[in-house]
Amino acid sequence: MYLGIDLGTSGVKAMLIDADQAVIGSASSKEVTTTRPHAGWSEQDPADWIRATEEAIAGLRAAHPAELAAVRGIGLSGHMHGATLLDGEDKVLRPCIMWNDTRSHREAAALDADPRFRKITGNIVFPGFTAPKLAWVKANEPDLFAKIRWVLLPKDFLRVWLTGEHMSEMSDSAGTAWLDTGARKWSGDLLAATGLEERQMPTLVEGTDAAGTLRPELAAKWGLGEGIIVAGGAGDNAASACGMGTVREGAAFVSLGTSGVLFAANATYLPNPESAVHAFCHALPNTWHQMGVILSATDALNWHSRVTGASAADLTGELGETLKAPSGVTFLPYLSGERTPHNDAAIRGAFLGLGHESGRAVLTQAVLEGVSFAIRDILEALKSAGTQLSRVTAIGGGSRSRYWLKSIATALDLPVDLPADGDFGAAFGAARLGLIAATGADPVAVCSAPATAETIEPEAALTAAYEDAYQRYRRLYPAIRAAY
Ligand code: XUL
Repeated sequence: MYLGIDLGTSGVKAMLIDADQAVIGSASSKEVTTTRPHAGWSEQDPADWIRATEEAIAGLRAAHPAELAAVRGIGLSGHMHGATLLDGEDKVLRPCIMWNDTRSHREAAALDADPRFRKITGNIVFPGFTAPKLAWVKANEPDLFAKIRWVLLPKDFLRVWLTGEHMSEMSDSAGTAWLDTGARKWSGDLLAATGLEERQMPTLVEGTDAAGTLRPELAAKWGLGEGIIVAGGAGDNAASACGMGTVREGAAFVSLGTSGVLFAANATYLPNPESAVHAFCHALPNTWHQMGVILSATDALNWHSRVTGASAADLTGELGETLKAPSGVTFLPYLSGERTPHNDAAIRGAFLGLGHESGRAVLTQAVLEGVSFAIRDILEALKSAGTQLSRVTAIGGGSRSRYWLKSIATALDLPVDLPADGDFGAAFGAARLGLIAATGADPVAVCSAPATAETIEPEAALTAAYEDAYQRYRRLYPAIRAAY
């Protein structure tokens, strides 16, 4: 048995798989609270992650005690880029500054202006990445900065609790803006540019390598045996890719989670920072990937749900399953600013083209279309970075809406595959990495793609209307930018 633990933005999910990768069961924690003390800020308390992991594992244990007792390897996945700062006694110094926190946009621009960052990391220094957050802490919380002994990514904080080790792996570390992404090692120069030293960073391994063993106290508490290996694991996007079998050149997925991601696996390192595409290490050795990220995908629908007081399921249900032509109302989903393609922390969302007749359903339709068009923007960015896609597989909570899937297929003009029943997300990918680290199995053979249950084709009758609406959407960002 192998256990995958995914530290998601909204909570922790734990999943058990057997040696044949059949899912035995999974359990999720209660929601983890995100606080937004100022506009553009987003923080979580790392103590809540431990509580949430305990909850998810307790849930698994209640349903599958014997199977949990037979676990041999654990894999970790987590939301990326968060700055989790510890002192010399592994005490958390401040709440984690999360991936969708854009307070450090000035520091990000300053680091990005230093040509070494793009050259060595292959990426723009986005405000969401870890390095500018540390520059912000240094400038605004200097006493706290002086106490930092360890800078860890969120899932690697869980590893300290699980194993006592300060270790990380390539896929998550590529999102810090301190990794030499081509060489797969920390860049001492880039760390020094933010006032840090390599000794403050975790030791790097590949995602498929062992990176610690479960502490005996926790093993005893959860009814597990001794010497259980914890794999390097992966950032949540690379972990999902391992779950979906997106590890070979040409394979791609679209993830509709809190954030929206279009992810493509690459056999080589293909940086193209100008396009705002992220070029990161994959969790498998000698493999890289590109992705574009929009900051609000289901988060945009959740915002609309909060404002209207209707559940997201009711809102999407109201649209039915037949795709409609765009109504003329356009939604820009920049509720927390945007990463790909604009790299703009200050921009905010908008509804445009409202009329007396624009009711709730029209607004919901515009929200879903706005996210679809933002993902189309990523597709265009990937194309400019040399990646051609012929189809994508959909994952994430938003992919439960057929209307949204049809909208995405039509906006991208690509077939969207839905995996056969099952859960192939980050927790599953993490469990696979746990299996590989514990058994030495061949990573590419383990990270196979699930069967496709169904393919959603673009709605040919609406592609022209969608293209018009997309071109209007594209014209709105510069217009709104100019008005800010
Ligand atoms: C990736 C990113 C998000 C987080 C949240 O660059 O910021 O997808 O990993 O899950």
